[in-house]
Amino acid sequence: MKVIGGSASKLLTQQLIEQPGFEAVDMVTKRFPDTEFYVKINEDLAEEDIVIIQTTYPDENLIELFLLQDAVSRLNPGSITTIVPYFGYARQDKEFTNGEAVSARNLAKHIGLLSDKLYTIDIHNISIMDAFGKDAVNLSGMPAIGEYLANEDVDAILSPDKGSKDRAALAAKSAGCGWDFLEKTRVDGSTVEMKPKNLDVDGKTVAIVDDIIATGGTIIKAAEQLRSQGAKRVIAACTHGLYTGGSIPKLKGSCDLLFSTDTLESETSKISMASIIANALTQ
Ligand code: R5P
Repeated sequence: MKVIGGSASKLLTQQLIEQPGFEAVDMVTKRFPDTEFYVKINEDLAEEDIVIIQTTYPDENLIELFLLQDAVSRLNPGSITTIVPYFGYARQDKEFTNGEAVSARNLAKHIGLLSDKLYTIDIHNISIMDAFGKDAVNLSGMPAIGEYLANEDVDAILSPDKGSKDRAALAAKSAGCGWDFLEKTRVDGSTVEMKPKNLDVDGKTVAIVDDIIATGGTIIKAAEQLRSQGAKRVIAACTHGLYTGGSIPKLKGSCDLLFSTDTLESETSKISMASIIANALTQ
């Protein structure tokens, strides 16, 4: 398969084309002095199956994806598969208040227009997959995160809330350990306690797994609480390390280990999603 990697997913694309059966498309990209994006594909892609990989965060990378799709579609390919490793705007997945844009569904619809098939990875809310309007599959980084955690001798994997417990369960299955979710209880007007629903963490090594770490607030609060309940080591792992406001130092100060996948490329990207994507594309 021929692969086009956008600038937000360079490392992941590099890892993918190192897998058997994948090769990079010859193309030129640049930014004009006003920062607008330009792409020219230098190959005949007629009847070829093309894979485009691009994380759509921040906004400029979404525009880049649209233009990559446009350039490919003009060359009469056999098919276009779009892979969005981190789908930006995923958390604006419903009209929380009347009058708001439902950003996730709107962007999914537009990304789907020039695609025959799509893949996302640990999308925040699976219910928006139908908005792509095409065959769209959500892959997960949680089994790979679990495998990584197996080498850290974790006793339990926790999700920050009940709604994301399936991710903890999936990671724990690969790690071969127990799992639970953190339950919030209001203690008084200003105190909320976060505690595993069933497990006792006293003296244990625990990992909190989440789809996204942004400000780090959720993880830092959870780590603080777990330590006060006696946890010996607290590890934080996520699929998408967004780290808004430069939250890595604060997170590192609060957790014994912090890591993520390469859906968003950063110093914490210890796990590549390339082989998972390659398997999905070739099965
Ligand atoms: C929330 O629903 C998400 O799954 C994450 O828990 C959230 O985005 C983390 O955000 P932050 O790092 O800012 O607490």
